[in-house]
Amino acid sequence: KLKADRPKPTRNIIEKLQQTQSKIAIFYGSQTGTAEDYATRIAKEGKQRFGLPCLVADIEAYDMDKMDEFPPDCLAIFIMATYGEGEPTDNANDFYHMLIGQDEINFSKGTATPQDKPLSHLKYAMFGLGNRTYEHFNAVAYKLDETFTKLGAQRVGELGIGDDDASLEDDFIGWKEPAWRAICEATGTAHVSAGKKTAVSNIIIVEQEAGFVDESLLHLGELHDKTASSMGGKPTYDAKYPYNAPVKVTRELFSSGDRNCIHMEIDIEGSGIKYETGDHVGLWAVNPEEEVMRFAEAFGLKDKLDTIISVESLDATQTKKPCPSPTTYGTLLRCYVDICSAPSRQFIGDLINYARSPAALEYITVLANDTEKYSYDVTAHRLTMGEFYLKIQELEKEASEKTEVPLNLAVESLGRLLPRYYSISSSNKMHPNAVHVTASVLTFTPPKNPERVVKGLFTNFLLSAHQLLGDPSLCDASSYKFAYTKDEESNSLKLTMPMYIRKSNFRLPKSPQVPIIMVGPGTGVAPFRGFVQERAMQADNGEKVGPTVLFFGCRRRDEDLMYGEEWDHIMSKVPNSKMHIAFSRETDQKVYVQHLIQQERESLWDLIDSQKGSIYVCGDAKYMAKDVNQCFINMALELGGFSEEAAQAYVKKLRAQSRYQEDVWA
Ligand code: 2AM
Repeated sequence: KLKADRPKPTRNIIEKLQQTQSKIAIFYGSQTGTAEDYATRIAKEGKQRFGLPCLVADIEAYDMDKMDEFPPDCLAIFIMATYGEGEPTDNANDFYHMLIGQDEINFSKGTATPQDKPLSHLKYAMFGLGNRTYEHFNAVAYKLDETFTKLGAQRVGELGIGDDDASLEDDFIGWKEPAWRAICEATGTAHVSAGKKTAVSNIIIVEQEAGFVDESLLHLGELHDKTASSMGGKPTYDAKYPYNAPVKVTRELFSSGDRNCIHMEIDIEGSGIKYETGDHVGLWAVNPEEEVMRFAEAFGLKDKLDTIISVESLDATQTKKPCPSPTTYGTLLRCYVDICSAPSRQFIGDLINYARSPAALEYITVLANDTEKYSYDVTAHRLTMGEFYLKIQELEKEASEKTEVPLNLAVESLGRLLPRYYSISSSNKMHPNAVHVTASVLTFTPPKNPERVVKGLFTNFLLSAHQLLGDPSLCDASSYKFAYTKDEESNSLKLTMPMYIRKSNFRLPKSPQVPIIMVGPGTGVAPFRGFVQERAMQADNGEKVGPTVLFFGCRRRDEDLMYGEEWDHIMSKVPNSKMHIAFSRETDQKVYVQHLIQQERESLWDLIDSQKGSIYVCGDAKYMAKDVNQCFINMALELGGFSEEAAQAYVKKLRAQSRYQEDVWA
């Protein structure tokens, strides 16, 4: 299949550095966009503060075997995220595996071993993004750094280690300042302190006259650039070119009323999209109208939502654009920019230039310089950009002039609305034309502000979809009405959602005969619904299916036992299957999946040790997955007769053999 026809830029990083006359290449390995955002921020700072021309580079867009020819007067910065079990992001996968654990590497000048020091010309700085909750914390950054050193490259500054469990932003800012010092020294650039500076944006927003724009080219929520037309054949859908899938079915899975969990089926028939049981789906929501209007008010756009605009990058070295063009202000705010997120400290620092009253200047200066105050006032309250900026305007009420922060500065700092990822809850064998999603609806009350209810962006969009598709008469009053098309005749609504499949390593054993033990409390059960469906299909086809054991956990049978009506039926189609449910709030004592695993330990140990079964855990990474891991270590201790150390090694080995797999999130 052909990729959608996009312009074909050079894949040679050396050539690209020359073409753009850049001194620094900033490579990012990004999944959800944070690393990409950091790369862009570094580039902006490099240019503005030090006059260093920087190139932001998606690592998969270049042939990284050319790194042995990297010019000695240039410098590379790597901003690398680690995912799951110490894996690189999709876009960094090829590069990572080309380098790691190889005795010989094929570089452009030929094959080289570490002893040849093929990267001795390369100077680099590195910042890793990870989460300490996971066992392989920042493994990608550590491994790359070690390998680069082995291959002769010289690191400049400290290896930056970001921890999303605490504050990535603080780690990043803490790393950046000394790193700049080292980078300036290494490139012979004068270092200037970060004083008051003029904020410059790399994007411009130009209003267009309606008559001059071909309306068929207008972007009204499409995430890819429509002007790059398809060359024929079907495009391969990915994060940059998602498929607009119709939403077919939605269903409420909880019965308690005060909490919601939505089951959604999206239709991929005719799209050519294929998925495998255990894969993830990336999905895009749109912003709620309330926030769109707040932002519009703060930035004076209330009467201009239909105005056609084009948003252009001023800088050819930047790959990142907040949206395709032409579009409208309304679409920009609804579909493209992450307006619900908090203003970054860098943005607040830029605001110093625009303060119009002493009170506003003082407040902004404090926020820009005091991490704790920023965390308290902005992050802890989950203040949105619109709310924040209205608050600043409040401080300027008395001022004769109103602050007019350029919209492009705000839009650039917020970045794009990014996809959310879910474990697919169906099996492709049973549902080849539909992707099922199971998502509990998130609402959150910041501990420091119990009055405030913060709603999870995607899951609340999903809840609204469930309500609207069930009762179209609610649509006009809905916060998302623009997302739907209405068929007046049948009085029905249609909703499509941009989506793509992200491959995962979470896979059933190749042979259906291998016993499996699945542990998934809450929405962690999602992929296991797919696993059980798959085994039911295999049994139906006359294949021999091994023991299939599922541990699920919820609060109460009559409250949040999701897919309650399905389990008996589907499990009955899988011979040798058993489901154990831990109800945590039905008795005085909490019962969790771990307790039931402990009770079943003898039969489970037999499945693992004698029958060479596989273990799968999905759900909360912070507590549940760790406790469950401990359960299996205890089993090896008690029933396998291993020492503490050997029991740990036993479970580690299961993981190394892919017989203990996790799909967990913090
Ligand atoms: P609780 O909320 O009553 O504590 C799905 O969220 C289920 O997982 C709920 O029954 C929840 O119980 C339970 N749960 C919460 N923390 C857990 C943990 N650390 N290990 C296992 N299950 C947990």
